[in-house]
Amino acid sequence: MKIISDIQEMQLFVRQAKEKGMSIGLVPTMGSLHEGHLTLMRQAKKSCDVVVTSIFVNPTQFGPTEDFAKYPRDLSGDSEQAAKAGVDVIFHPQPEEMYPAGYSSFIEINGITQKLCGLSRPGHFRGVATVVTKLFNIVQPDKAFFGQKDAQQVLVLKRMVTDLNMNVTLEVVPIVREKDGLAMSSRNAFLSPEERKAALVLSQSLQLAQKLVNQGQVDAQNIKEQVILKIKQEKLAQIDYVEVYSYPQLENLDVIGDKALLALAVRIGNTRLIDNTILEG
Ligand code: PAJ
Repeated sequence: MKIISDIQEMQLFVRQAKEKGMSIGLVPTMGSLHEGHLTLMRQAKKSCDVVVTSIFVNPTQFGPTEDFAKYPRDLSGDSEQAAKAGVDVIFHPQPEEMYPAGYSSFIEINGITQKLCGLSRPGHFRGVATVVTKLFNIVQPDKAFFGQKDAQQVLVLKRMVTDLNMNVTLEVVPIVREKDGLAMSSRNAFLSPEERKAALVLSQSLQLAQKLVNQGQVDAQNIKEQVILKIKQEKLAQIDYVEVYSYPQLENLDVIGDKALLALAVRIGNTRLIDNTILEG
C-alpha cells in the first residue's frame, strides 16, 4: 500500500492506473479509522480494481468553535487497518496543499442543507461539498463510497453529483454499529466510560421509534416527542436536534407512511454524536 501526500503524485498514479484500464474506487475519510470506514473500503475493493482512501481532516467543514484541532489523528494505526481492508493508496494531503494561500472556490448546495446538521453547523456542507469535489477532481473515481451514518451528507453529495454532472457513481453503505447499538464514529473515542454508556440513548431512542411505528403509531410529531422524552431521561445527553422528514426528499411530514428519516444530533458531555434510521410505516 502506498501513502501519497502530494496532489500531483496522486494525479499521476491515477493517470497510470486508468491507462491500464483499471477502475478506481474512492473512500473519503477524515481518518481515525473504525469498522464503519473499513466496511466502506472492503465494499470498494469488491467492485473496483484500485481503492484509494483519503485521510484528510478537512478544516473547511468545521465551525470556529468545533473540534478541528482535537479531532483524533492516527496515520500509522490507520495505515495498518486500511492495508488489511484492501486499500491500495492512502491519499493524505496537508491542509496547506488542499487550501493554499489565496484559495477562494467553494461549492454550495441549497435547499437540503438548510436543515438538520446544515442548521446546527453553518457552513459544514459547503466545506464537505468543496473537499469532496476536490477529491473527485484529483482521484477521478468511477465509484465513491459513503456511509448512511451521515444520511444528510449522502443526500447533499447525490444532489451535487446530479446537479453538476459529475461522472462518478455514489455507493452507500449501511450504518455499522457496536454490538450494543452505538453507531461507530471517530468521535466515540472522546467519550468517558460513563458517557459511553449514556451514548446508547441515541440508538435506543431510534429503536423505540421503530417499535412505536411497528405498533401503528404513525403520527410524525408524536414519534418525535417520544424520542425527545427518551433522550431527556439520560442526564448526560443534550439534544441538538431530533427531526422526522420524508425520505429522501427531506420534507416536513405529518404521517409516517412510506419512508421517513428520523435523524438525531445529541451532545453527550462535550461530544456531539449523530445517528439516524429510516422508519417505514
Ligand atoms: P468521516 O466522518 O471520517 O467518515 C468517512 C465516511 O465513513 C463517511 O462516508 C461516513 O458516513 C462513513 N462512516 C462513518 N461512520 C460510519 C458508520 N458507523 N457506518 C457506516 N459508515 C460510516 O464523513 C466524513 O468523514 C467527511 O465529511 C468526508 C466525507 C470525508 C469529507 O471530509
